[in-house]
Amino acid sequence: MSDMAAAYAADPHGIGSRLREAGPVHQVTMPDGTSVWLVTRYADVHRALADPRLSLSKRNAKPGGYQGFSLPPALDANLLNMDAPDHTRLRRLAGSAFTARRVAELRPALTDAARGLADAVAARLAAEGSADLVADFATPYAVLAISELLGVPAASRGRFREWTAGLLGAEATREGMAAIVREMYAFFTALVADKRANPSGDLLSDLVAARDADDRLGEDELTSLAFLLLFAGYENSANLIAGAAYAVLADERVRAAARGDGIAALVEEVARHESPALLAIRRFPVEDVEIGGAVVPAGETVMLALATANRDPRRFTDPDTVDPGRDDLHRHLSFGQGVHYCIGAPLARLEAEVALTALLDRLPDLCLPDGNPAVWQQSLRVRGLAALPVATGEPARPGHR
Ligand code: HEM
Repeated sequence: MSDMAAAYAADPHGIGSRLREAGPVHQVTMPDGTSVWLVTRYADVHRALADPRLSLSKRNAKPGGYQGFSLPPALDANLLNMDAPDHTRLRRLAGSAFTARRVAELRPALTDAARGLADAVAARLAAEGSADLVADFATPYAVLAISELLGVPAASRGRFREWTAGLLGAEATREGMAAIVREMYAFFTALVADKRANPSGDLLSDLVAARDADDRLGEDELTSLAFLLLFAGYENSANLIAGAAYAVLADERVRAAARGDGIAALVEEVARHESPALLAIRRFPVEDVEIGGAVVPAGETVMLALATANRDPRRFTDPDTVDPGRDDLHRHLSFGQGVHYCIGAPLARLEAEVALTALLDRLPDLCLPDGNPAVWQQSLRVRGLAALPVATGEPARPGHR
């Protein structure tokens, strides 16, 4: 990794703030040696997210530019690589299966899962004196939630964490990624075939039916959408949940706010403060575009720094503080903006609210062990805890970064 990329992965808020205050747009070098335009301030990121001149399709990237990792066509024909009109058609189809009602119907299953996992954390604490809220709670819970939605059988859920760590981690290599992608491709084509043979009332079965009814969805688009929902659907949610738990445990003021109705506000504020997606999906200008006073030539790569924009003091008062009482809670950019606004945001919010409620009900005296051994992942893309060790008893008083 270049020095700047490594420093950013280690300290995205510190480096992000420095870059934001130094200027609205910077040319930076990615680990693969390509150059991108990083946009750091809220107003510019907000505008750029919804600018139709910034394409998500790799067809608009100049040869040799940054493209991120490449996927085979059967996984790559997804919403995050498309512009209108293909994006509009596919998003409408995805939306017709991913309804508010379907999300709301998951509440009882999510509540059971969260309570069961909170019980398991309590048992581990009683037996061993410590537990890890990432491995023992947030990750299995988020995998379960998205698997329930899609209809992924319990036996196949185990490998997801390995896959995402292999693709998103700072140490990901091209060969390692290629091997994971091959495995994921085999998994998703088999899953779609299974839903076609045995429709089971879940979201994926609905999408297969939409594909087979009148060919509105290509086979590659179907596999890619399943892949995207699963992949986009659990790592970010797990990171939001563990991040919210950390915010509560690290600060008595936040803990006091996170009672009853306060939990939804807490989740929203943590989404802003520790945006699980550090950067939006890369974008390629279809013509020369002015952003923050810089002219970005057509075909170059634009990266929008969501997490840095969310802490822009020009937009949020006291942006580095977790304040669930702020009156502009919902103005953060963590779920994007415009036509690519996260389709899973209602599920992510519900998941986190249910998880935090169950955890704090079951373990009201949960605290951070002395020395605050929480460990953040080192990644250019995701902000999340790699481990969140917890104990019970008198809370330790760590500094909250
Ligand atoms: C805390 C959790 C989540 C965060 C922070 C998050 C973040 C985002 C962001 C930033 C985008 C926009 C990307 C861009 O325009 O560059 C996005 C899009 C998307 N997200 Fe999420 N997401 C979360 C959870 C989920 C879940 C649970 C699902 C699915 C079950 C999901 C599925 C999607 C899909 C399909 C898109 C593409 C939408 C489109 O192009 O029309 N996300 N997400």
